[in-house]
Amino acid sequence: MSDTRPRGETFEYAGATVELIDAATLLAAARVNPVDLLRTATWPEPVQRVDLTVSSADRPGGPVHTFAASISTAEEPLSKERIRKLVLGNDPVGLLLAKRIEAGDPIATRIVDGVGAAAAAAYKKLGLDRQTQPVTNREPGTLADAVVGLQAELTYDETGTVVRLHAEVPRDEVTTAHLQAFVGLTLQAVIELAGPDALTGRRFVISRENLSKEAPTTQTVTLDMVGGLADVVSELRQIAVSFRHPEAMARWGARRPQGILMYGPPGTGKTMLSRALANEIGADFREIRTPEILDKWLGGSERNIKQIFRDARRYRVPTLILFDEFDSIISYAGAGGDAASQAINAVAGIFKQEMNDLIEANPNVIVVATTNFPHRVDDSLIRSGRFDVKISVPKPDEPSRAEIFRKMVRGLIAAHEAPGFQMFADDLDLAALAAASHGMTGADIKEILRRVQLSKAMQDARTGGQVSPITTDELLASVRELLGPR
Ligand SMILES: Nc1ncnc2c1ncn2[C@@H]1O[C@H](COP(=O)(O)OP(=O)(O)OP(=O)(O)O)[C@@H](O)[C@H]1O
Ligand SMILES: [Mg+2]
Repeated sequence: MSDTRPRGETFEYAGATVELIDAATLLAAARVNPVDLLRTATWPEPVQRVDLTVSSADRPGGPVHTFAASISTAEEPLSKERIRKLVLGNDPVGLLLAKRIEAGDPIATRIVDGVGAAAAAAYKKLGLDRQTQPVTNREPGTLADAVVGLQAELTYDETGTVVRLHAEVPRDEVTTAHLQAFVGLTLQAVIELAGPDALTGRRFVISRENLSKEAPTTQTVTLDMVGGLADVVSELRQIAVSFRHPEAMARWGARRPQGILMYGPPGTGKTMLSRALANEIGADFREIRTPEILDKWLGGSERNIKQIFRDARRYRVPTLILFDEFDSIISYAGAGGDAASQAINAVAGIFKQEMNDLIEANPNVIVVATTNFPHRVDDSLIRSGRFDVKISVPKPDEPSRAEIFRKMVRGLIAAHEAPGFQMFADDLDLAALAAASHGMTGADIKEILRRVQLSKAMQDARTGGQVSPITTDELLASVRELLGPR
């Protein structure tokens, strides 16, 4: 049995069925980029459209998830189309003009635009533009869901045609129940406009349909996507909490970690974890690669690293700085007498000096360094408290590999499956895949999937569709292929 497919939760609201698909991923994605929902749904009169957006914001008390809905009862307010309809009506000249507009006559179009603007002004003066609209300047209010304790503020725009709902939940507390409650409140507002039975028999699907598909893995990496490594993930969550609550830290005289050193074999997820931590904190992510620092000219590397820290002291927004492949920047291996080693030693010296008071100088910054070779990293960096957290990121064991497979497959399904297109078979045998992939890392598992995806896509391209979903056997074959002849 496999539980790879993201399951939807379905709930009933006022006779309508609402399906929430993979709401947890959706909430996680909203931390990074606003997520738009319901945009493509159809609504009972007079509601024309509903935009529901989940996004993230920073408040003095910490980051929050914001839920916003706008319910519009006007067609595009005073759009050219609407004015044309209004102005032209059944008037014979109007009909003639309408025909010419349809034929693309630019003069006719300009005449109508002119007439339209004048007519719109007149209509507005007379107050006629409001006649067809049922909502007129109503008092702001609140809608509340008692079960999860969610309150949405209700406001109306000055034309009375748009109703807005707004609610916020602290990021540490937000759950899919909040999303569900907010959708319910939005539907309640729709019912107030359209009547008690207006939603009966309708079906709404809340899914990642509109999430950007280009960057599902790199930009929106979250800790939820990490397979295995439960201890590491929970430690990073703790660090994120301490970062987001400086006032609590100060009250107790506590100090949050300022530097984190992650070490382990290649492909085990160190870079991924750093990105996910940045997202968990709600921080910008700044990655420093070795070439950015090391410069063949005398003094160039020192200047570069000084510049990096000078910038870091000025960041106004929370920023995670990742020194990836840290050992090549600061390493014992470079402790020779040649010019290159001397340059590296000089860089290491500056680095240590800068790390001494960076966090005191700018509390917006947190530093992560990753390495495959912890023994090459100068001990004094860790002993001195410049890096106060040291995290080992080992290769995944068998249960962890099963979880990595499960999470990656789920992610691919969420990003690529659509009605009529099934990417993976329903009965993937994760245990068999985990057993077969002994010794492999998360990066290897990603590669296994990539190869099968590519071969399916090629088959699809050759045959024009009609390709069956990816099976366990196909994945196992890909595992064997990557392992190579033993
Ligand atoms: N535990 C994991 N869970 C989910 N995905 C993983 C995991 N480990 C690795 N991956 C996948 O493998 C990719 C490569 O991992 P990543 O670059 O983070 O490894 P790394 O430890 O930084 O490697 P290196 O030491 O070579 O830099 C990630 O983008 C992710 O897709
Ligand atoms: Mg890496």
